[in-house]
Amino acid sequence: MSIIPPDPRAQVPTPIVIVGHVDHGKSTLIGRLLHDTGNLPDGHAAAAAASSARRGLKIEWAFLLDSLQAERDQGVTIDSTRLPFVLDGQPFVIVDAPGHRQFLRNMVTGAADAAAAVLVVDIAEGAQEQTRRHALLLRLIGVRHVIVLLNKADRLDYDQARIAAATQTLTALLARMEITPAALIPASARHGDNIAARSAEMPWYDGPILTEALKAVPPLAPLHDLPLRLPVQDVYRDGDTRYVVGRIESGRVRVGDRIAVGSHGTTAEVAAIAAWHAAPQIAASAGQSVALVLAPDVVVERGDLLHAPDAPPQRAARLRARLFWLRQEPLRVGESFTLRIATAEHAVTVARIDRVVQIDDLTEAPADTVPPEGFAEITLHAPGGVPFDAFTPGRLGGRGVLVDAWQQIVGGAPLLGPATAPVQDAVFPVDSAVSAWDRAQAQGHRSGVFWLTGLPGAGKSTIARAAEALLFRRGIHATVLDGDTLRARLNADLGFSEADRAENIRRAAAVARIQAEAGLVVIAALISPQAAQRDAARAIVGEGFHEVHVHADPATCERRDPKGLYAAARAGRLAGFTGVDAPYEVPATPDLRIDTDAATPAESAARLADHIEGIVRLAARPAAARG
Ligand code: ADX
Repeated sequence: MSIIPPDPRAQVPTPIVIVGHVDHGKSTLIGRLLHDTGNLPDGHAAAAAASSARRGLKIEWAFLLDSLQAERDQGVTIDSTRLPFVLDGQPFVIVDAPGHRQFLRNMVTGAADAAAAVLVVDIAEGAQEQTRRHALLLRLIGVRHVIVLLNKADRLDYDQARIAAATQTLTALLARMEITPAALIPASARHGDNIAARSAEMPWYDGPILTEALKAVPPLAPLHDLPLRLPVQDVYRDGDTRYVVGRIESGRVRVGDRIAVGSHGTTAEVAAIAAWHAAPQIAASAGQSVALVLAPDVVVERGDLLHAPDAPPQRAARLRARLFWLRQEPLRVGESFTLRIATAEHAVTVARIDRVVQIDDLTEAPADTVPPEGFAEITLHAPGGVPFDAFTPGRLGGRGVLVDAWQQIVGGAPLLGPATAPVQDAVFPVDSAVSAWDRAQAQGHRSGVFWLTGLPGAGKSTIARAAEALLFRRGIHATVLDGDTLRARLNADLGFSEADRAENIRRAAAVARIQAEAGLVVIAALISPQAAQRDAARAIVGEGFHEVHVHADPATCERRDPKGLYAAARAGRLAGFTGVDAPYEVPATPDLRIDTDAATPAESAARLADHIEGIVRLAARPAAARG
């Protein structure tokens, strides 16, 4: 791997994508543009002229393009053709792709970003279904700068009134897709009108010709001033050193910077930026591929997103996405895929089809399925949660792609944001036929969730386990849900960032609810440092949630330090440790507060067990009322 020198994008050509219905003259346009601007390699025009002449034609520009492409494609399997050209010293590149799928893959994954699109429309025919699809695709991938080339003006005899009428129809159509063309150019690619030279046939047209419109395309905004995003491609080990390798999507890294690791939010310092074929760097920025050495040597995996600690990505388990569906069969709710975002992969299920675009009239309506090659807005459910940046035109974040079990790309799915509506979708929880009351009567006690919160070392786990044993002996079915234990399996993918803690607590609360529904008394012991997290747990559990603050003086907790983690945090070996460098919000009005400073563990456990028993035990009813 070689490291590219810092690149201020000064010499980066402006990428232009050219789209349009097959017969509307796309190839002719490209050939004409390259020829008339002096951008054709020597010999090509002559070769094309000869080959056209053999067919009894003038110059067939499409043949020329074919010969150019054939040359470029030789021996290389590529998804897109890049045709560079220069206008008055300004570099451009035409990004072309042989088919929908490749085009989409390139555009959506950001392999090819377009600063602008030229939409070629045969003005005599007007917009066709494919024109509408292409325009929708441009909107989907966020290409906002659209130049409309009204081709084949010769077929309308260059007539101003007829061209104006056709232009108006097209403008209205594009407006429905929220596309305001930067220019609408009546032209004839075949005859060279308004491509690189002003047409003598349309003296009434005073707008820009194509080359002028291209020169006016604003360059892509530089990505190095945005917060750091570095999707991890791989991690290599060389002796004792681990190299975290990837391409910087946005922002910069410098040796000495603190960066956060997406999956667990742990931060580390960039100790070195290594290079294979070049001297080590001290800084690198967007567009460059780097190999970082981190200190401490935190666990990082392919698919992790390294990011600026103060500008983390969002995280959601339910995501709204725009979708361009590529399969020839319809998409149904409930289908599962892999959502690929840069190097990360997440298992997702289609939870809802929110709206489907009707291609013929561009209206949007709710539907049960997305038709083959259709456009829609959908909600995806990712049980593990997905860290992401909402898709923004011109940026690389949020460019999701749906992949099937055979690694085929089946859809482009730019992520719009978290899905907020707490809808049931296609998931219908089935209520038990055994009521809570039936269970309570059979057991002699109700269920409930007793949520123990407190600083590490306050004694949550200890008194939870002791109270569980006491309750068991009193005939009360109790169980403990302990943060540490959950983190060993169910929550093994979570760390201690705020987002991960929230997810940890969300899952614990969901499990607690299931256990309580089964009739159990659940004693949950999690730090749950923030009031908002505890409120979320209360909302998930619903009725029967009781907050218990297990309190000890912070100094006492630190002195106890049962797992040696306070010491590790003080020594800088553990970051974001609650009570040392991560906050703990004391509950304002807990249902019970147990002060473990002032009592033995046995006393505290008895207090908790008594409190629980007082709430869950059913009053013994007089014998006469029984049976
Ligand atoms: S919570 O904040 O998400 O509620 P939880 O109770 O599940 O935390 O886990 C806390 C346990 O994880 C602690 O008892 C401790 O053993 C371990 N731990 C490891 N790193 C940290 C950290 N940075 N902060 C708090 N606890 C940590």
